[in-house]
Amino acid sequence: MPQSRTFTTANPLSGRIAVPGDKSISHRALILSALAVGKSRIEGLLEGEDVLATAAALRAMGADIQNEDGVWTVYGVGVGGLMQPDNIVDLGNSGTSARLLMGLVASHAISATFTGDASLSKRPMGRVIDPLSDMGADIAARQTADGKACLPITVRGIYPAVPMEYRLPVASAQVKSAILLAGLNTPGITRVIEPVPTRDHSETMLAGFGADISVEADKDGVRKITLTGEAELKPQKIKVPGDPSSAAFPVVAALLVPGSDIVVENVGINPTRAGLFTILQQMGGDIAFENKHTVGGEPVADICVKHSMLSGIDVPADIAPSMIDEFPILFVAAALAKGTTTTSGLYELRVKESDRLLQMAKGLQAIGADVTEKEDGLTIKGSGGKPLPGLDSGHLIATALDHRIAMSFSVAGLASKKGVTIDDISPVETSFPGFEQLIKEMTSG
Ligand code: S3P
Repeated sequence: MPQSRTFTTANPLSGRIAVPGDKSISHRALILSALAVGKSRIEGLLEGEDVLATAAALRAMGADIQNEDGVWTVYGVGVGGLMQPDNIVDLGNSGTSARLLMGLVASHAISATFTGDASLSKRPMGRVIDPLSDMGADIAARQTADGKACLPITVRGIYPAVPMEYRLPVASAQVKSAILLAGLNTPGITRVIEPVPTRDHSETMLAGFGADISVEADKDGVRKITLTGEAELKPQKIKVPGDPSSAAFPVVAALLVPGSDIVVENVGINPTRAGLFTILQQMGGDIAFENKHTVGGEPVADICVKHSMLSGIDVPADIAPSMIDEFPILFVAAALAKGTTTTSGLYELRVKESDRLLQMAKGLQAIGADVTEKEDGLTIKGSGGKPLPGLDSGHLIATALDHRIAMSFSVAGLASKKGVTIDDISPVETSFPGFEQLIKEMTSG
C-alpha cells in the first residue's frame, strides 16, 4: 500500500546526526565476505531493503549471514563455493544486487533466476549480459517490446569461465564490478578498462580482502583494472561509513532552510562519490569537512553545513559519475538558487530506479519551479532563495518506486510555502531507513 506523506515549511535544521551505512560499500562487504573462507564481521552495514536483498540472495547461495544488534557476521563459502539457489531470487528494487550477483553467478557452475519489482524489471541488463556472455555464461532474459533485455533473468554460470579484457561502453560501477566479481573465480587475467572513472569501492575492497588486483591510470585518466583469478579471499573486519548519497538530503535541506546549522558525522567522501559536495560549494554552499580520516581504505569526514544563498551553476558533464545518484537533490537545490543551473550528459539518469530527468522535471514544475527538460539534462531557473510555492492540497508528487525522488521532494517540501505531498514514502526503505524520523528530529527546534 502506498503511503503518502506531506513535508512542509520547516524550522531550521540543527544538531549532529548520522546517516545509515553506504549502500554500495554494504553490498560489496556482504558479497566479498560471502566469498572469503571463514568469518568476516561487518559494522555499520546499511540495513535497507536493497542490501537485505543481497544478504538473502547470498544466503540462498550457501553463505551463513547473521545479524546481532547491528553487528553482521558472515561465514563465507570461498570463491568457487557458491551453491545453486533452490528458488527464484527476488531482488526487489535493487539494481546493484542484480548486476553484481549476475557477475558472481556467471563464473560458478550453478544457475540462478533473478526477479525484481516493477522498477527493477524495467532497467536495462544488456550492459552486464553482453560481457558476462563473452566470458561464457549462458544468460536468458525477458525481452521487452522495444527489444531491451530485462529481468526476470536466468544466469547459467560456467566454470572455468573465459577471462577477458573489457572496455566499459557506459560509465557504470555496477558493470565494472560484475565483471570483476566474475573474474574472481576465473583462472587468468580479467581486465576492465574504464575511460571515465566510476566509484572504486570494489577495487579498494578486493585489495583489502587479499585479491591480486592492480589499478593503473594513464595521463587522460583512463583506468585499467587488472585482476588475477582464481582468487583466495581472506575474511575481514569491515566498518561501513555513512552514505554520502544519503547525507546529500540533510545537507541540501540545511543549505535551503534559513537558520540551519548541522553536522553529518562519519560520511564517506571518496572522490568518486563526492561530486555533489564540490558542486554545492561552488554554488556558494557553506560546507566544511572536519575530522578527516580513512577507514578500510575509504576517506571519511564529518560534514558541517550552514544555510547559504546558492548561485546557479553549469555542471560539467564529466563530474556526473561522481554524483550520479545526487542529481535529483541537486535539482532541488538549483530550484532555490539565484540564477540558472544547467546540466548535460545525463542519459544514465533515464535508466535509474525511475526516469529521474522526467520525474524531477514534472515534479519540480508542479511545485512551481522553472524547469526545462532536455534529452540529457535539466535547465533550472532558481527562485533566488524564495521558497517554492509547493502543492495545493489533494495534489501528489509521483515517486515512481524511486527512493531518491521521494527524498528529494521531501526536502523540497521543507523549503516550500504550501508544503509538498509525495504519493509514497515507502521506497525510502531501500536506502535510508529512519529518514522521516531524522528530518523530524532535525527540525524539532
Ligand atoms: C552503484 C553504481 C551506480 C549507482 C548505484 C550504485 C554501485 O550505478 O547509480 O546507485 O554500487 O556500483 P551505475 O553503475 O549504473 O552507474
